[in-house]
Amino acid sequence: MKSILITGGAGFIGSHVVRLFVNLYSDYHIYNLDLLTYAGNLENLKDIESFPNYTFLKGDITDAAFIDAIFKKYQFDAVIHLAAESHVDRSIMDPAAFVKTNVLGTLNLLNASRSIWSNFENKRFYHISTDEVYGTLGEEGYFTENTNYDPRSPYSASKASSDHLVRSFYHTYQLPVLISNCSNNYGPYQFPEKLIPLIIHNIKHNKPLPVYGKGENIRDWLWVGDHVNAIDIIFHRGIIGETYNIGGSNEWKNIDLVEKLCDITDAALQRKAGSSRNLIHFVKDRAGHDLRYAIDSAKLQNTLGWKASMNFEEGLKQTVAWYLNHETWLSHIMDGSYTAYYDSQYSKRG
Ligand code: NAD
Ligand code: DAU
Repeated sequence: MKSILITGGAGFIGSHVVRLFVNLYSDYHIYNLDLLTYAGNLENLKDIESFPNYTFLKGDITDAAFIDAIFKKYQFDAVIHLAAESHVDRSIMDPAAFVKTNVLGTLNLLNASRSIWSNFENKRFYHISTDEVYGTLGEEGYFTENTNYDPRSPYSASKASSDHLVRSFYHTYQLPVLISNCSNNYGPYQFPEKLIPLIIHNIKHNKPLPVYGKGENIRDWLWVGDHVNAIDIIFHRGIIGETYNIGGSNEWKNIDLVEKLCDITDAALQRKAGSSRNLIHFVKDRAGHDLRYAIDSAKLQNTLGWKASMNFEEGLKQTVAWYLNHETWLSHIMDGSYTAYYDSQYSKRG
């Protein structure tokens, strides 16, 4: 049985990765290591928490001694590293937290892999990263794997730094690494500070819909399930040392997306068509707000055969329906009670 460490598995994308791997690979034991920061929510994984090939480990990737200890104890064959501080607005408020988790945390995992793996045969260190490391685009062009790094927020600077560290361990120590850089994900279990779940929640509760600046910034949206399929493919078939870009070829201006969400949510709630658009409020722009992200994922498509499968209209409808049907999940986040789930369910398990 292979022993796989997934970090950040209680977060948005990580919980989808954990669920897929636990369900698909009964010959893998999946260890989900997560600190359960505000963004970690074990309610995301209720459906698989009792599976025999799944273990949750509460811990901090910035604690080097703890990381070394779990590497020795569980003898991981591979790491899929998602744990991070992930929200750009928070990075503007508190850059140091992002450097600590995203840079030092990644370094601790690299150091432990390098020192505890006696040889690197059949080992893999897969680092999950973001398209934001490439900076911002003007009206034309796409990010490829050869685009120069030009991070412009404390979040993207910390992710860029972690990417560089991962590559440096490949070149210096031949640690078998893989990196992927993905565009904006959407779908179930996304923390409602991010644009799409925030807007759906606010529409439902008739609250203002904050659109930064003029709403003209563009993001390339990808269904989280398509990202997770790419992670599965790259983990199993990616070439060691390589980087793969993952994107939806699905660019939307923020204001157009928010209006679309109003229309889909109004229809789902059987409200008068267009009524929620009145809630849109243009607010102060995000500092250093990157204008446009757009990914060229030709390398991943042509060399490993990945393709996004979710149609955006359908993905948004499913996302709206999921948030409207998961009022309890959302209310536990809003009243803070989701943070008690670990103590109520896991402390008795030891
Ligand atoms: P998220 O914020 O939803 O989840 C992050 C998880 O990491 C949480 O469960 C949190 O508790 C955990 N964590 C934070 N600090 C930790 C620490 N010190 N030790 C252990 N665990 C810790 O993030 P997400 O949106 O799921 O993103 C996951 C990864 O994918 C991140 O590395 C992010 O940079 C990358 N990414 C995200 C997107 C996106 O659109 N969300 C796109 C591309 C790449
Ligand atoms: O591109 C990948 C990145 O996508 C990931 O690496 C990040 O972890 C993830 O958070 C996301 O970053 P963004 O900053 O693009 O996502 P966010 O949902 O915060 O914002 C999307 C766009 O919407 C962005 O242009 C800012 C804007 N926005 C956001 C919020 C929260 C608003 O206009 N109003 C809002 O209230």
